[in-house]
Amino acid sequence: MLLTGATGFLGREILWQLITSLPVDHDILCLVRGERAGAPPPVTAEERSLLAESRLRALLDEEAPLPASDPRRARVFALAGDITRPHLGLDAATFSAVAARTAAVYHGAATVRFDLPLAEARVTNVEGTREILGLCRAAQQHGSFSRLHYIGTAYVAGTRRGRILEDDLDCGQGFHNTYEQTKFEAEKLVRAAMSGSTSESPLPVTIYRPSIVVGDSSSGRTSSFKVMYWPLKVFARGLIPVVPASRAGIVDLVPVDFVVKAIVALGRLDAAVGKTYHLAAGPERSTTIGAAMDVAAEVFGVYKPLFMPIETYERWVRPLLRFVLRGKRRKTLETGRIYVPYFSHGAAFDTSQTRRDLAASGLEIPDVRQYFLTLLRYCVDSDWGKKPVANHPNR
Ligand SMILES: NC(=O)c1ccc[n+]([C@@H]2O[C@H](COP(=O)([O-])OP(=O)(O)OC[C@H]3O[C@@H](n4cnc5c(N)ncnc54)[C@H](OP(=O)(O)O)[C@@H]3O)[C@@H](O)[C@H]2O)c1
Repeated sequence: MLLTGATGFLGREILWQLITSLPVDHDILCLVRGERAGAPPPVTAEERSLLAESRLRALLDEEAPLPASDPRRARVFALAGDITRPHLGLDAATFSAVAARTAAVYHGAATVRFDLPLAEARVTNVEGTREILGLCRAAQQHGSFSRLHYIGTAYVAGTRRGRILEDDLDCGQGFHNTYEQTKFEAEKLVRAAMSGSTSESPLPVTIYRPSIVVGDSSSGRTSSFKVMYWPLKVFARGLIPVVPASRAGIVDLVPVDFVVKAIVALGRLDAAVGKTYHLAAGPERSTTIGAAMDVAAEVFGVYKPLFMPIETYERWVRPLLRFVLRGKRRKTLETGRIYVPYFSHGAAFDTSQTRRDLAASGLEIPDVRQYFLTLLRYCVDSDWGKKPVANHPNR
């Protein structure tokens, strides 16, 4: 198995799920960047390998309560690489050796920043996916390849409203940001490979599209406080008196434990080849933003916010706040703009195919209303990830 994105929020949970559920004769190769953000890049290939190895070991020590002697842990290897480089940054001999051994690829590496310039986001999300497809093709030629598990996003739906089917992709929609657009472009590449509409034979692929992934549904635990957590944290500080959305707007959240279990369960089904799955709550199992903010206000001990139409907010309130606020508060106002579309997203993600194909595994999509409070308590108890929480074990 080759996994990309293992050092990220979702990837580390997929890695853990693979370690604990795969038969013991499967090795897991994690493509990890042999560099650290903010540090000068290593010069030699050996230095990059050592750094990738040490990043993976640190992750395993932190995440996996398995002793170093556990045989399952010994099956996990680091491969220093970068999806934006030709042949994933591997030399020709290594690329060919990896392709010859690879039976399946789980591709989760991406940039999830909403505010990158389009060209920059494309390098990782589109060109990176193209490189991964190249590896899958090379593995397919060796005859041992069974599946690409591609992690997309439900938000390839962009500005569409109403019911979004799992097979829908290009419906002429616009996009709220470069993340949505580049994930859409990447999924088009994946779909073309999956259907064999290029000159090559069809590639066995399953596409998983999570909505907004949040912490564990039973402990609330999360290793990342990005996406939904950013506005929540600002709200907890009493800095969001007004929400530019309708109280009745749907917020589609899905807990990380369900997402990774669903990926592994669907990944085992032969019938899942060629299919796309919304790993989302859907309107039936979602909450409204009004109800979510009421619970959050109580837990954080702050006033309930006012809700107002986005047009009114943009026309009158935001310019006024911009004028009045200074320093950090003004920066928060500006950063918060990228999240506004997700407060009033009009998309209802259909999950029929997911529910049908998961039925035999007994896995069900959790209802946000049943675990939202647990998520918030974890934020408070862990002081937004700054301290360990005794009653929320790592696993
Ligand atoms: N989080 C969500 O709510 C959500 C929702 C829907 C879909 N998804 C999808 O799930 C996937 C994972 O998201 P996430 O939230 O886990 O993101 P994340 O925490 O930001 O992790 C991104 C991962 O990608 C790796 N990566 C980025 N650029 C790379 C490169 N050039 N070469 C190799 N690896 C690279 C990162 O490695 P470094 O550690 O080296 O930076 C990291 O391991 C993405 O495909 C995303 O679109 C996420």
